[in-house]
Amino acid sequence: MLLDCCGEIPQLFFKQLFQKFMAKGKKKPKYKRILLKLSGEAMRGKREYGIDPAFISYLASEIAEAHKMGVQIAVVTGGGNIFRGVAGSKRGMDEATAHYMGMLATIFNAMALQDALERKGVNTRLQTAIEMKQIAENFIRKKAIRHMEKGRVVVLGGGTGLPFITTDTGAAMRGLELGCDAIFKATKVDGVYSDDPEKNPRAKKYNELSLKEAFQNEKITILDKAAVELCMRNNLHIVVFNIHKKGALKKALMGEKVGTVIR
Ligand code: GTP
Repeated sequence: MLLDCCGEIPQLFFKQLFQKFMAKGKKKPKYKRILLKLSGEAMRGKREYGIDPAFISYLASEIAEAHKMGVQIAVVTGGGNIFRGVAGSKRGMDEATAHYMGMLATIFNAMALQDALERKGVNTRLQTAIEMKQIAENFIRKKAIRHMEKGRVVVLGGGTGLPFITTDTGAAMRGLELGCDAIFKATKVDGVYSDDPEKNPRAKKYNELSLKEAFQNEKITILDKAAVELCMRNNLHIVVFNIHKKGALKKALMGEKVGTVIR
């Protein structure tokens, strides 16, 4: 007790005072709440197909680092690494059925990401747009917001629960309804280019772009047009960045010149 009065408590007090003093001079993140869109492609890492646990663990570290900065994060997962609805329907499947299968694929990814985040000590809640009571909460807008306010990363699987809507559009919808400051689209390229940088070496990277230009320019396909239109109508900014570059998410959140900012 005597030790507490004369030693540990004053030490704690000075430690907290010092931390407060240090925090005062620290730059704050530019964004308070974001919607992170992780494509299925991002989940497969270097594999041809499926989930790459090592890469998902890396993704979880990147998200955990961003979360430590105090940014509220909701993540929408894609599913193209497991099943692509569009591809299924092109091979003769009923289109709506193929889309529902794609939605289930996004839930696989969401579960894998939740697991990886929890292993890093991040508090999470998984919500799905298709009811799956045994494994996840239903998507409830206000509950998702409360979870974020309580410091939990909310992982959203199942897109919107509706066929014929891409996960990009679903991400834009969720970003809007969850009151996010921006959509962060994680990709394997450094941002938005004037042409496909993998096919055209002369393609030029944009540091900034207007939402109108991103919507009107046919060559800009990094997000589908329905998603961009939704963002444009509601003035929701989009940040496109390379998730393969360690620390890129954190830098983009600080407002550093990373990727392409569409506003
Ligand atoms: P607060 O009470 O607002 O802090 O939220 P909470 O998520 O901690 O409380 P709740 O009692 O709603 O949830 C406790 C745990 O059960 C969490 O891990 C939830 O993700 C989980 N949970 C809640 N509802 C469901 C559900 O419908 N299905 C499944 N599978 N899990 C659920």
